Order: sequence, then structure tokens, then C-alpha cells
Amino acid sequence: MPTYTDIKPRELKPALFELDGISRASIEAHYRLYQGYVGKRNEILARLEALDRTGANQVYSDLRALKVELSFAVGGIKNHELYFAHLGGEGGEPTGAIDGLIRRDFGSVAAWREDLKATGMASRGWAWTAYDWDEHRLFNYIGDAQNTYPVWNATPLVALDTYEHAYFLDFQTDRGAYIDAFFANLDWDVVNGWVAAYSIPTA
Ligand SMILES: [Fe+2]
Repeated sequence: MPTYTDIKPRELKPALFELDGISRASIEAHYRLYQGYVGKRNEILARLEALDRTGANQVYSDLRALKVELSFAVGGIKNHELYFAHLGGEGGEPTGAIDGLIRRDFGSVAAWREDLKATGMASRGWAWTAYDWDEHRLFNYIGDAQNTYPVWNATPLVALDTYEHAYFLDFQTDRGAYIDAFFANLDWDVVNGWVAAYSIPTA
């Protein structure tokens, strides 16, 4: 009896195919990468199920290899589910609770946008605006691969994919223009839904 359950890729909202500046072809290719992360997560968990634990070793072992790459697959799933979920909106100025949080913790929306864009320009994979439950504030964290530098006890609310696969088709090497397009397609209602769902304090 397996102790895990296979998961399926979440479907894309139709709005993802009509983004401003990010093409349908780019989103479709990007979605196939996400499907790959889901498939590998299921495959790795099935292999772990059957693995003999006695050979575990920090230098090399099947257990180590599978668990390291599981973190890459699961990171790829979680990062992309955030990314796809909060695109398809009108961008512009944030609204509601997230607007207040951004102004409180960054001083202004412009300062938040400038810092997230800079963090994205400095990253090799991801930049996240996360609510850090220990520091009681938003912060723009950096990530390189799918599984590098997420921090414990922080909830990502904006997930900016800066892997080349996210923009090369539409912007070639102009990552800055892609990041501007990312901002222009954010759905603030989705982000505010996460603020409410996770009961992030707004006072
Ligand atoms: Fe991606």
C-alpha cells in the first residue's frame, strides 16, 4: 500500500493564454515544464517507496539522490503553481490587503516593485515576495534553482520566475522587459485571496 498519492498538474486558467506581452506559445512551453516536475515528483516518490533504506549515505546513495531531486521537483511544482495562479490579471497598482502590506513594509509600491525587479535581475531562477512569520513583514527573497534558498516559516505571495525559459521566446535576453510584463499581468485579487487564506495579519 503506497504511503503517497500521485498528483496531477493543475490546469491553466484560460486567461494565461491571453497575457499582455507573454505569448501563448511561451506559456504552453512553460506549462509542459511544470507537467514534467509533477511527473518526476510522482516517479521519485514511487521509487522511494520501494527503496532499501540501509544503503543511505551522504556521499552517494540512491536515497540521497532521490531526495535531493525530489526537492527540485517539488520546488518546481510549488513555484509554478504560484506563478501561473497569480498571472492573468490587469497588473497595475496593488489593491486591498496586499497594498497595505507592501506600503507598510517597503515604504511604497514603487520601492517594492524596484526591489523585486532588482532581486529578479540578480537571481538565477526565482524571486519571491514572501510574508515572513518570524519577522512579521514582507521581504523579497531570492532563489536560484527550484530548490535553492526558500526560507522556513515564510509564505510566498508573489513568485517571479526568472529562468530563461520564462521569457527567452518573447524577450530573448531582455529580462527587465519580461519582469515589467510580469508586473503588468499580476492578478492582485489572487494575491489578496492568499493573504486571506493564510490569515496573514494586515494590521
Ligand atoms: Fe519556470
